[in-house]
Amino acid sequence: MKVAILGIDGYIGWPLAMRLMGRGHEVVGVDSLYTRKRVSEVNSDSVTPILSMEERIKKAEEGGLGKLKFYKGDVNEPDFLYNVVRETKPDAFVHLAEQRSAPYSMIGLKQARETLMQNIGGTLNLVYAMKDIVPKAHLLKLGTMGEYGTPNIDIPEGFFKIDYNGRQDVLPFPKFAGSWYHWSKVHDTNNLMFANKVWKLKITDVMQGVVYGTETREIKKHGLYTRFDIDEVWGTALNRFCTQAVLGYPLSAYGKGNQRRGFLSLEDSISCLTLGIEKEPEEGEYRVYNQFDEHYSINELTEIVSKRAKELFHNEVEIKHYPNPRVEKEEHYYNPEHSKLKELGYKPSRSLPEDIDTILRDVNRFREKALELKKVIEPKTVWEKSKGLAAN
Ligand SMILES: NC(=O)c1ccc[n+]([C@@H]2O[C@H](COP(=O)([O-])OP(=O)(O)OC[C@H]3O[C@@H](n4cnc5c(N)ncnc54)[C@H](O)[C@@H]3O)[C@@H](O)[C@H]2O)c1
Repeated sequence: MKVAILGIDGYIGWPLAMRLMGRGHEVVGVDSLYTRKRVSEVNSDSVTPILSMEERIKKAEEGGLGKLKFYKGDVNEPDFLYNVVRETKPDAFVHLAEQRSAPYSMIGLKQARETLMQNIGGTLNLVYAMKDIVPKAHLLKLGTMGEYGTPNIDIPEGFFKIDYNGRQDVLPFPKFAGSWYHWSKVHDTNNLMFANKVWKLKITDVMQGVVYGTETREIKKHGLYTRFDIDEVWGTALNRFCTQAVLGYPLSAYGKGNQRRGFLSLEDSISCLTLGIEKEPEEGEYRVYNQFDEHYSINELTEIVSKRAKELFHNEVEIKHYPNPRVEKEEHYYNPEHSKLKELGYKPSRSLPEDIDTILRDVNRFREKALELKKVIEPKTVWEKSKGLAAN
């Protein structure tokens, strides 16, 4: 199958490319290198050493993974995206090419606009290009579990049965996101449902939990690391906790730490996405998967990380509860369904503590780099203080 990965240079995009190439798929990659640029602007960097796209492609080829065609550009530019789709005519698209940081989107109006316009614009360009050029292709789009928020009832996979004033229907589950970034994904979801309705495009909308980890089978085999961000803007919870634990810094739990979210390892994320591509939806189908292995509270995660760091490195790691920079419930019910990927054949790979050990060992290997990033680890971006025009 010919698969276009939009966002191929990213944390998930690069290991997914190696997995798909290794399974004999022809991969086309698109990326504007947006994340590299924005991460360097906050004086941060990947803790793991990452090669340029050109070097990655060369090494992947030398390692026997095959050739990969790469297009550098912005999916929010319609002419650029149309040209790529016209030239390559993929059978499937994995769309990862969006601004993916909740804190970044909450810095101020400029960043909020950038997140909303760029993410919604890119996805809109893609569904138009698909309709016009490859209407039978499959789009697998990355959304987030954060689209749902934390309602006081079970969360279904996209749709639920409702009985209201004596009448019944199956409707999209209401969304209540917690940052402009998460809302950009909700708007994408609405637009995808509409594109499916009017043009019958085949779409899988993946509500993915927080991804953690440094390793997949291919990263281990070829030594071609993916990025690993740990700063307060671009790093995600568990990856940040592991880095703090290696450096002997307090683990930064926000608020009471009882917030509960779905998590999955990078290896499992790649397996699920591969499965979603290889087992595509029916003609004209729009399907939604909730993609995570288990849900954990922040307190449960910080406890596991501090325990493992003590056992591995004899580090006594403190857990520090910061005033919560986010506006979110700190005590809530959380029970999202997540059976559809398992029904499709997905089996989680390793346990969370095993994965945490791997991250701790990898971060320890690149400890000097992590130490250089000391100044950008502490939380600074505060939701309630997001800057409007006057403040800039
Ligand atoms: N990592 C997670 O925990 C997680 C969880 C849920 C959902 N997601 C979603 O999965 C996707 C990939 O996440 P990631 O962690 O790999 O992020 P990432 O930032 O590492 O990767 C995204 C890639 O897309 C590129 N990109 C961004 N905007 C672009 C544009 N307009 N045109 C072309 N390229 C562009 C970036 O340069 C980057 O290489 C994102 O959409 C993200 O929202 C990630």
